[in-house]
Amino acid sequence: MMRHLLSAADLGRDDALLVLDTAEQLAQVADRPVKKLPTLRGRTVVNLFFEDSTRTRISFEAAAKRLSADVINFSAKGSSVSKGESLKDTALTLQAMGADAVVIRHGSSGAPHMLAHSGWIEGSVVNAGDGTHEHPTQALLDAFTMRRHLGDLEGRRVTIVGDVLHSRVARSNVLLLHTLGAQVTLVAPPTLLPVGVETWPCEVSFDLDAAVPGSDAVMMLRVQRERMNAAFFPSVREYSRRYGLDAARIDALTDDAIVMHPGPMNRGLEISAEVADHPRSVIVEQVTNGVSVRMAVLYLLLSGSESALGTTDITLPDAEPATDSVPDSGPGTGTAHDLGRVSA
Ligand code: NCD
Repeated sequence: MMRHLLSAADLGRDDALLVLDTAEQLAQVADRPVKKLPTLRGRTVVNLFFEDSTRTRISFEAAAKRLSADVINFSAKGSSVSKGESLKDTALTLQAMGADAVVIRHGSSGAPHMLAHSGWIEGSVVNAGDGTHEHPTQALLDAFTMRRHLGDLEGRRVTIVGDVLHSRVARSNVLLLHTLGAQVTLVAPPTLLPVGVETWPCEVSFDLDAAVPGSDAVMMLRVQRERMNAAFFPSVREYSRRYGLDAARIDALTDDAIVMHPGPMNRGLEISAEVADHPRSVIVEQVTNGVSVRMAVLYLLLSGSESALGTTDITLPDAEPATDSVPDSGPGTGTAHDLGRVSA
């Protein structure tokens, strides 16, 4: 049975579609006056963030709270980690506090995997971004956003542009989009492509102008200057000119194509301010959709243990009444799912 979500590669096609369809149903909760379901009442979700984050951390927090879980936010800054505490001791502390799920963001690739397989904690581990490795829930929210605009992703063409070398978003997106049948092209300067990219299930190009017109979605990546220890391109101006998305380039897009960015954006570097705020930009929708997708992931990992894999029809419990006298439905309310054979 699947306990963890560590990589987009953990998700087969059916599992990925189950998450996306569940998210679609859970998104309805956001339209209710009381945006809350009792599904994870009594469960504890810990947000364990060793790296700076705005949207991912608050998105997981909102998702867990909308499912009525208790949420503990832990950020390394201001904790005993700055006194030298190890990941193991932090994990043992969380275990002692009864964490049912740990959502971890860490600067080191592989930290979530270590946490999941170390035996230090019993709960589920969700990777919220590890080093330059993976960010599976970002890929899921991106796929969710694309599906809303483009329908089935089979055969759709997605161009991912920029700092692929440092991007866990790009890696997870290539894996998930390939699973969903989309054709991905990475566009980057050669210095910002990782070694071994030719083995990834995608095309690689150095020419943004050639890739844009045939794209159904163009996803811009942030230039991650905090991870750069050398000069990867001659100047900001040169980078923007060759790999930045500006108004002239989006004029070459087809009518239904969308522009995406995981945020935070460097306006004026990889994306012009005009494009960021353009009607074709779905960047703010990506943030909204992130909450629904993370609700689906927490719901599927934590609510119940009967396997309902492949069942996309979930019964949403009624919204929690805005009074104190809530019926005690406890965890597992609604049809239970688990992501079964998805991972070890
Ligand atoms: C991304 C990340 O942290 O990997 N942002 C995010 O999760 N919204 C991308 C980035 O930092 O550029």
